[in-house]
Amino acid sequence: MKPGLRVALLGCGVVGTEVVRLLNEQADDLAARVGAPLELAGIAVRRPDRVRAGVDPELLTTDAQVLVTRDDVDIVIEVIGGIEPARTLMLEAMKTGKSVITANKALLAEDGATLFAAAREYGADLYYEASVAGAIPLLRPLRESLVGDHIHRVLGIVNGTTNYILDQMDTHGAGFNDALEEAQALGYAEADPTADVEGFDAAAKAAILAQLAFHTPVTAADVHREGITEVSAADVAGAQGMDCVVKLLAICERIPSQDGRNGRGVSVRVYPAMIPRSHPLASVREAYNAVFVEAESAGSLMFYGAGAGGAPTASAILGDLVAVARNVVGGTPGPVEVTYAKLPVLPMGETVTRYYIQVDVTDEAGVLATVAEEFARHGVSIQAVRQVGSGEEAQLVVVTHRAPDAALSATVEGLRGLEIVREVTSVMRVEGDE
Ligand code: HSE
Repeated sequence: MKPGLRVALLGCGVVGTEVVRLLNEQADDLAARVGAPLELAGIAVRRPDRVRAGVDPELLTTDAQVLVTRDDVDIVIEVIGGIEPARTLMLEAMKTGKSVITANKALLAEDGATLFAAAREYGADLYYEASVAGAIPLLRPLRESLVGDHIHRVLGIVNGTTNYILDQMDTHGAGFNDALEEAQALGYAEADPTADVEGFDAAAKAAILAQLAFHTPVTAADVHREGITEVSAADVAGAQGMDCVVKLLAICERIPSQDGRNGRGVSVRVYPAMIPRSHPLASVREAYNAVFVEAESAGSLMFYGAGAGGAPTASAILGDLVAVARNVVGGTPGPVEVTYAKLPVLPMGETVTRYYIQVDVTDEAGVLATVAEEFARHGVSIQAVRQVGSGEEAQLVVVTHRAPDAALSATVEGLRGLEIVREVTSVMRVEGDE
């Protein structure tokens, strides 16, 4: 057995305490798998007086800066989150020869380029499996197992809070606010749910997934983002009428071109959309996550499991720790991030998708023709149309073929301006069936 590898932990909250527990409980097995024992060198926390079950208080320090640069530390695990001081600490760690494991999706999505450049410059490993979809092995499959394939699309449910809320709306007919309150009471949603319900969390994860899938730089700012706060009971009922379900989807898609294998660019977007109940993602209930990958040779793959929580996230971190520790023992760093493709991220208006549109209309001759004319004016082809109710209650439900998002949204604006349209009651994109 080689000499022990010393691990510094930055942060000791819900995830950090689980990392400590697993390191202690599985010490012998981990040592055998790595070929060297793993020892905790120190844990940086803001409040050292807080009681943390199973954590040796002797290991606690408030000086993270000193901890990450200590000579007797080989590997740094970062679970404090946020942009600073996490970025500076990780950069310092790599500069002084340490490899880094992080769960920090916000930082990776905002400024991953700086961290990856440092990893390359200093020959350090930077592993981040826990940053997307918690326990689900997803980034390593994209980074290693599928790196020889050509990925067309990644379609994911990567936020458990919003999936729980939408699932409650679908199952019990709950409105958004009631479902959010329930999610908060059960501890799925934070007191301030903005990052989840407005799609920021999913957008950061989408950027990380797109960058890995398409070998092209993508940041959170490139991601078109719409949250679920506007999803109404009428939208959910409309989806049910189409044998669909509403999910908050993170979609990373290669946009084909006539020439060139890499395509015209990529589209990276997060929004609530209808997917058919027959799609594997439709069966992802409650707060679970799942990611559906479509690759040229591998075909369709689905990754499913717990996307958050202390132990599931710690499982992903421990997996990275063993991988990195093996690399340190073997003296060979792991794979580096490659963003050679440099594909443009296309604006949402150029993204081709489908719309479901429900309108309250006057129920008389010529109305359908006028509505259809508005679609034709914007070059949008209708796939199906049906009338629900009659007289004062008449509604038209229109589902389009695929068209550029700009043309689809211009059609909706046009419909709003028509005299025969009392109200556009539901607009939702349709995904996952082509
Ligand atoms: N808040 C996230 C979720 C988990 O609800 O899935 C952390 O990314």
